[in-house]
Amino acid sequence: MKFFVDTADIDAIRELAETGMVDGVTTNPSLILKSGRDIIEVTKEICDLVDGPVSAEVAATEYDAMVAEGLKLADIADNVCIKVPLTFDGLRACRTFRDKGFMVNVTLCFSANQALLAAKAGATFISPFIGRLDDMHIDGMDLIAEIRQIYDNYHFDTEILAASIRTANHIREAALIGADVCTAPPAVLKGLANHPLTDKGLEQFLADWAKTGQKIV
Ligand code: E4P
Repeated sequence: MKFFVDTADIDAIRELAETGMVDGVTTNPSLILKSGRDIIEVTKEICDLVDGPVSAEVAATEYDAMVAEGLKLADIADNVCIKVPLTFDGLRACRTFRDKGFMVNVTLCFSANQALLAAKAGATFISPFIGRLDDMHIDGMDLIAEIRQIYDNYHFDTEILAASIRTANHIREAALIGADVCTAPPAVLKGLANHPLTDKGLEQFLADWAKTGQKIV
């Protein structure tokens, strides 16, 4: 499973990228707002830090304007992945960008039928939003499983990018189902390393080590 970091926070991306666990980055208008940065400048910085796809989202909702914005975003760096919403105009723009050879992430997906359309439009990634479905008491993981089955049935190349991830369990379950990628906030990705038995075991080892009176360096 590939890991994308869901943030426009440069310091957080750099810290995780240094571990080699970052395969890409996703941003959206809300994350750009949170960063307080200019979208073109911060996207360029992220693309310089990370080799993999960096999703940058268009803000327009009408086809012609979406294409104009997407082309400007794609011009930032070779690893920009143009992010478009899962609307009819977004799907049209997706096909246009794909025909021009750009990567496209179709976002705000909440149904298997939407994911089917995105694959037909040639999307590089489809982003089903797990957490926002869970918020409505609908199991977001069921959607990941449905899309996995449909894409496998028809051998679509579109990668399932599990998004709106809030917990470590979301990542574990999406990985078990076979999502190709998950994008998660930095704190959730870092939190995967935590286990109370690791902490307890380390505490015991350190106590015993102190009793030896030894030093390694
Ligand atoms: C990423 O591509 C999505 O925009 C993001 O995961 C949405 O997450 P949220 O539902 O926590 O805002």
